[in-house]
Amino acid sequence: MKSVARIANLSGKGRWVRLAIVLALAGYPSLGLSAEGANPTPSNPANGSPAMDQFVDSLLARMTLEEKLGQLNQLAGPSGGAGPEARAGTEADIRAGRIGSFLGVYGAAHTRELQRIAVEESRLGIPLLFAHDVIHGFRTIFPVPLAEAASWDPEAVERAARIAAIEATAHGLHWTYAPMVDIARDPRWGRVVEGSGEDPYLGSVMAAARVRGFQGADLAAADTLLATAKHFVAYGAAEGGRDYNTADLSDRTVQEIYLPPFQAAVNAGVQTIMTAFNELAGVPMHAHRRWTFDLLRRDWGFAGVVVSDYRGILEMVQHGVAQDGAAAGELAIRAGVDVDMVSESYVRQLPGLVRSGRVPESLVDEAVRRVLRAKYRLGLFQDPYRYSDSARESSRTLRAEHLAFAREMARKSIVLLKNGGPTLPLAKDLRTLAVIGPLADDAESALGPWAAAGQPGDAITPLVGIRQAVSAGTRVLYEKGAEADGSDTGGFAAAERAAREADAVILVLGEPRDMSGEAHNRSSLDLPGVQQQLAERIVAAGKPTVAVLMNGRPLSTAWLDGHVPALVEAWYLGVQTGPALADVLFGDVNPGGKLPVSVPRTVGQVPIYYNHKNTGRPPDERDHYTSKYLDLPLTPLYPFGHGLSYTRFAYRDLRLGAARLRRSDPLDVSVTVTNSGSRAGDEVVQLYLRDEVASVTRPGLALRRFQRITLAPGESRTVSFTLHADDLAFPGADLQPVIEPGFFTVGVGTSSAELLKARFEVVE
Ligand code: BGC
Repeated sequence: MKSVARIANLSGKGRWVRLAIVLALAGYPSLGLSAEGANPTPSNPANGSPAMDQFVDSLLARMTLEEKLGQLNQLAGPSGGAGPEARAGTEADIRAGRIGSFLGVYGAAHTRELQRIAVEESRLGIPLLFAHDVIHGFRTIFPVPLAEAASWDPEAVERAARIAAIEATAHGLHWTYAPMVDIARDPRWGRVVEGSGEDPYLGSVMAAARVRGFQGADLAAADTLLATAKHFVAYGAAEGGRDYNTADLSDRTVQEIYLPPFQAAVNAGVQTIMTAFNELAGVPMHAHRRWTFDLLRRDWGFAGVVVSDYRGILEMVQHGVAQDGAAAGELAIRAGVDVDMVSESYVRQLPGLVRSGRVPESLVDEAVRRVLRAKYRLGLFQDPYRYSDSARESSRTLRAEHLAFAREMARKSIVLLKNGGPTLPLAKDLRTLAVIGPLADDAESALGPWAAAGQPGDAITPLVGIRQAVSAGTRVLYEKGAEADGSDTGGFAAAERAAREADAVILVLGEPRDMSGEAHNRSSLDLPGVQQQLAERIVAAGKPTVAVLMNGRPLSTAWLDGHVPALVEAWYLGVQTGPALADVLFGDVNPGGKLPVSVPRTVGQVPIYYNHKNTGRPPDERDHYTSKYLDLPLTPLYPFGHGLSYTRFAYRDLRLGAARLRRSDPLDVSVTVTNSGSRAGDEVVQLYLRDEVASVTRPGLALRRFQRITLAPGESRTVSFTLHADDLAFPGADLQPVIEPGFFTVGVGTSSAELLKARFEVVE
């Protein structure tokens, strides 16, 4: 056992902040999550200006209690859009100053008119905020976030968010409820689709990229909007994968797995954070002061707006921690939740609670200040209409350059799971090609869930993309074969005929988009309906067959893996699904995406994630009394980080800058990667770390760096990474950060399951 050397024991501020300070004092060049930069950006909500503070304070001094609470009140708009059990806000509410922001209201003309009422007809003329879920594009829909994470390309992901912001702001929006940064280790949960998968480091890099993209360099610019890191925290840990369900985790797991993407978002300057529907170890997150205040505000110094989730405040009555709406409102305002999304608990209950002295008005004032500061930063007090400009609305939507980038993003997100033969790429001049499957021509599913203002008519389906790509002489036979769900096999015979007539078959299978997203959980990860039977019949036709999967969660497709030579993970790729897919299927583009999740063989392996602990009895096929199943292999169907290419990459010469180092020394790691095939291609070089012996158990592997590179045929490149102290640190037995001396293993390679390894030692 290693000796435990405490690196920091300062009093006062929070643990990880303390680590950062101590490491800074020790001369570390980089702190926090190095890849995304930990330094506060100019848009960090903590960076106020005296002019802003003075403006906000003088406005606050003129506000009645009701007007203050109005600023904290968010409702759906007068034209509808209210979800379950919520009232739509009216123009009378705006005039009375009872609304600070709207949910799901957009459109330049519509927002301009509502803004006009707020500015010209309410007593204080405070502008409104318009918020919406702009998750993966506004009208130009990009791949779903899980798919974008499969690109392992943060610059591209940032650019997609930037374009989403350009379109959304041109439609009057100031605020997006994205990025969703919840780590998901249970693919039954429908919202796996909305995040970046199972890994805290990849999730952190993607979170920061999206924040940068949405918020841009200058929040006051008319094409940037407030981003929201959601759902704080552990929403993805819902028991059984059932949305909204209880999460009960150790502080260690919260700290190591679920919090890092939020911290990365805060470090990137995210302006708002949304609390989660779930309880965590007995306390609903809308009341969880320990995380929402002690950690978020005090330790991390987050000074932006905390917004509740939809009716999340009032739902504390159902959770059983609040007797009624008043008690719920009090719990939430005390926990530091600033904005009440649609439950109206604040406007209804807080006037009485403040006047009776139960809730100090200073709590309300602080929340209002944060909302007013956000409006100030957006420039709305200078020009409340700057986002509601009809000319911009039409000129910025679905631009050719946006569509071109949507195609590029979609190509980057595709993961080649298997390519026996090789079967892919297919020739464009086949005589006859059969395209079969319920998702081949499903435009809605191409868009995926949470598609903002996306319209199925904008989406190019796989079938259309394939038709556009093949040679003029190629006959494309299309048969749906079956519905995505249900038991009707009536279409099988025609599909089988098409397969027999064809020189090759592309089978497009998976889940329709309404099987993913909020409250869309499944207890099975199999292909729904009769799709596997359809695949069995098509494979029996004996033609070269490629299966393309469309889905928002990993699916357990062991049968396909065993029987179809080529398998492509295409997620939901957005408006350019068809062209991007065709680019890959016919070889104009060489796929380079990697899985951001482990794909289980069956749902019985869930939860399955690569960064699990060793246990005292690590799985061993030869030893019965080890941690495994009798009826399943140890490994997932496809490991985290897996993804093939039409070329081959060889790894050699893993080199470490030192075999022994002090805790404050950086460590250079390099590896040489060669494209040993005959086509240019992208590879994601992944670096994992393992702390071999520590005072608390550590994951077998943890991703610490990655880089997506492009290599010409025959080209070799030496890829270098530098690790710093924070990469070696972990929460010790008392949850304070520590770097312990001893041996570490570095693994570098093409996936979490295929690594070159080396060791180094950290000395006192
Ligand atoms: C979801 C949030 C979303 C909100 C507003 C809720 O049901 O959990 O992620 O931002 O609705 O649409």
